[in-house]
Amino acid sequence: MDKALLSKTAAAMVARGKGVLAADESSGTCEKRFKSVNVECTEENRRSYRNLLFSTPGVEQFLSGVILFDETARQKSNEGTPIPEYLAKKGIVPGIKVDKGTVQLPLAAQGELVTEGLDGLAKRLDEYFRMGCRFAKWRAVITIGEGMPTRACIVANAQVLARYAAACQAASIVPMIEPEVLLDGNHSVERSEEVHEATLRATYQAIADYNVSVEHLILKTSMVVSGKDNARQAGVEEVAERTVRVLKRTVPAAQPGIVFLSGGQSDESATAHLNAMAAMSALPWPLTFSYSRALQNPALKTWRGQSANVAAAQKAFHHRAHMNALAAQGKWKSELEKQAA
Ligand code: 13P
Repeated sequence: MDKALLSKTAAAMVARGKGVLAADESSGTCEKRFKSVNVECTEENRRSYRNLLFSTPGVEQFLSGVILFDETARQKSNEGTPIPEYLAKKGIVPGIKVDKGTVQLPLAAQGELVTEGLDGLAKRLDEYFRMGCRFAKWRAVITIGEGMPTRACIVANAQVLARYAAACQAASIVPMIEPEVLLDGNHSVERSEEVHEATLRATYQAIADYNVSVEHLILKTSMVVSGKDNARQAGVEEVAERTVRVLKRTVPAAQPGIVFLSGGQSDESATAHLNAMAAMSALPWPLTFSYSRALQNPALKTWRGQSANVAAAQKAFHHRAHMNALAAQGKWKSELEKQAA
């Protein structure tokens, strides 16, 4: 465990004015996204699309890191450079998704999930380190519903997150722990706040139980928003206040930083929420983005698998990265959106 390297990586991931691109969609998720724009989900199309994102001129000024899927970490840029090396040369920290997706918890209500991927993890982490990856993401999913989440589901996920985080640190790779509370459902924003608090509390209890160092750890969290189908949708300031309140109650100040997932929020909401939180004074940690959909949506819709659209798609991606980089400093204003590609 190289503590100096872990500190250096974690600091770089949350450097001011930058954030993380999540480009680690599994091939199944990629298939869904590509289908929405009528692109065939082949290995080459996935490579070519991600190369488009990574090679966007100037985007490195807004990106501290990129989360890769295993397949992409083994692919090459258009010039033939292995992707992790290509990113590192641009000053972007290469990261890797190491979980193997979720399964239903047996005998629990439908939707109570736990994430798999601990078997053989230490060996995989050693290989990823040799490939140049310096941080690793693991996503746990918490569903809100009738009688859900149960304590068992929260604790099972917290334990697995802590075990994966310990394995990462032992391999000198910074863990980006992602307990995502889904926004699907008709629950209230109050209920979302309650579930976030219980989830984060259990997660940090497990982090302590498994001797994981909070100084070498990044949290990737969802925001406290109203359930998608709830009649009362909390406004930007309310989401920001509730989210930061929960984080202050549960996340140690010793932690180097917190990043957010977008989770199905609209592109502009994800930016506005981040901006409102980052603008708050005296936060114990830097806050930034680690979005997939809210960074990529306009680029994907512009690209549509056509090489003639690459430059326009890169412009759209650059714009979202720029807007979110401003939001991470509390400097975004909705009027800036008008300069969109
Ligand atoms: P979204 O921003 O699309 O929620 O994706 C982030 C992510 O990495 C989910 O695991």
